[in-house]
Amino acid sequence: MKFFLDTANLDEIRQGMSFGVIDGITTNPTLIAKEKRPFRDHILDICNLVKDGEVSAEVVSTDTEGILREAREIATWHPNVIVKIPTIPDGVRALSILSKEQIRVNMTLVFSAPQALIVAKAGAYFVSPFIGRLDDIGADGLTLLSEIMDIYRAYDYPTQVLAASLRHPLHVVSAARMGAHIGTMPYKIFEQLFKHPLTDRGLEGFLKDWEKARETLGDVFQSAGARKPKR
Ligand code: G3P
Repeated sequence: MKFFLDTANLDEIRQGMSFGVIDGITTNPTLIAKEKRPFRDHILDICNLVKDGEVSAEVVSTDTEGILREAREIATWHPNVIVKIPTIPDGVRALSILSKEQIRVNMTLVFSAPQALIVAKAGAYFVSPFIGRLDDIGADGLTLLSEIMDIYRAYDYPTQVLAASLRHPLHVVSAARMGAHIGTMPYKIFEQLFKHPLTDRGLEGFLKDWEKARETLGDVFQSAGARKPKR
């Protein structure tokens, strides 16, 4: 499973990249607006930070002509930029045209299996079902994800499933168990994937016991600096 960060914040992206397991970035107009910088410059800065990783940048037009104009422009910014388009009728029309031009498109705001089926047929590179936002309205985002995985497998669609709007580590685990190609998550959720209170408590105990017995243990690690339990 590929891990993408769902953020446009450069500090978070730098932090995330330092772990060596982030494969790309997704942004949306809300996330970009928070950064208060020119859109193109900001996307290019993100591309430089993630090196080979794919970076989704979203159009803001809602008519086919406008979407096509913005998408063709965004696609020239960087070889790793993926154009993100909302799954509205005009967006699907634009997708059919852009996919024939070999422009890679991430179809976003997907909330139903029929939407996912249509965008796969129209040649989407990624499909982004929003899991958490379905849960927010009392529906079941993970059931949608499972339906999409079944449909795509049944017909061998090459569209990659990008599980979006993931709100907690269990969403990520469930998406991984279903074989979603990518999970995109806010930095906070990414951190929660590997932080565990029992790990911290266990390590503190190990280091306390080590300290207590230090004199008998020799000074093998002295040159590298002995670890002290973190408070
Ligand atoms: O970028 C799209 C998506 O991941 C948004 O997530 O948490 O705002 O529903 P959220």
